[in-house]
Amino acid sequence: MKIIMLGAPGAGKGTQAKKIAAKYGIPHISTGDIFRANIKNGTELGKKAKTYMDQGLLVPDELTCDLVVDRIQQPDAVNGYVLDGFPRTIPQAECLTDALEKLGSKIDYAIDVNVPDENIVTRMGGRRACLKCGATYHIVYAAPAKEGICDTCGEKLVLRDDDKPETVQKRLNVYHEQTQPLIDYYSGKGVLRTVDGTRDLDEVFSQITEILGE
Ligand code: AP5
Repeated sequence: MKIIMLGAPGAGKGTQAKKIAAKYGIPHISTGDIFRANIKNGTELGKKAKTYMDQGLLVPDELTCDLVVDRIQQPDAVNGYVLDGFPRTIPQAECLTDALEKLGSKIDYAIDVNVPDENIVTRMGGRRACLKCGATYHIVYAAPAKEGICDTCGEKLVLRDDDKPETVQKRLNVYHEQTQPLIDYYSGKGVLRTVDGTRDLDEVFSQITEILGE
């Protein structure tokens, strides 16, 4: 099963993508997590990506497409994957469609997690992230067992640099300009499904499993 998660920053794509990956036994591939791991490890890719991410801007398409096309051909992705944060622009979507066509493959579902902008800023201020294993929490809606510590790996949780309110607003603007057109793109391909992302975490996941099947 090959799935794309669509939705505004903070809509809950990452949260739901991890649950999908666990339930259906497919890898969760998050371009944001890949960039953050590269930043943490001080790689050249990380240094380039950070300058864009800290401003709430998108990393240029040429730095993302090859990375994802290579990742989806790794052995663990042979039965499918859930892409989180990619594609994010029409050129990225076209690059993915072309690459999949060459591989004789296609996307099965593009799931749009729909949350209005008003709800987003509140969510982002409460998010805490583990930069070691990629786990995500919320101080109210999905709190870790021990405050400030990752349940999975014990690392200290942080507020992401790009979750400051002024950067979140910028990311929302970028989303509406560059990423929202993907809703029409995947609707045109007949694979778009929309879920109400304002519901609680488990209810959102139920809507998704109804679409994907048990
Ligand atoms: P990325 O990491 O992809 O960020 P994003 O798309 O902005 O999405 P987020 O991770 O912020 O949010 P999410 O929708 O996953 O929400 P989450 O589940 O955490 O990208 C970061 C940056 O990297 C980009 O700005 C860009 O610069 C760059 N980048 C990445 N990919 C790129 C690409 N393809 N091209 C170019 N640049 C790229 O949930 C948010 C919070 O809400 C959490 O605290 C969660 O616990 C909570 N929550 C989730 N669901 C619910 C719910 N139902 N009810 C209550 N709380 C909830």
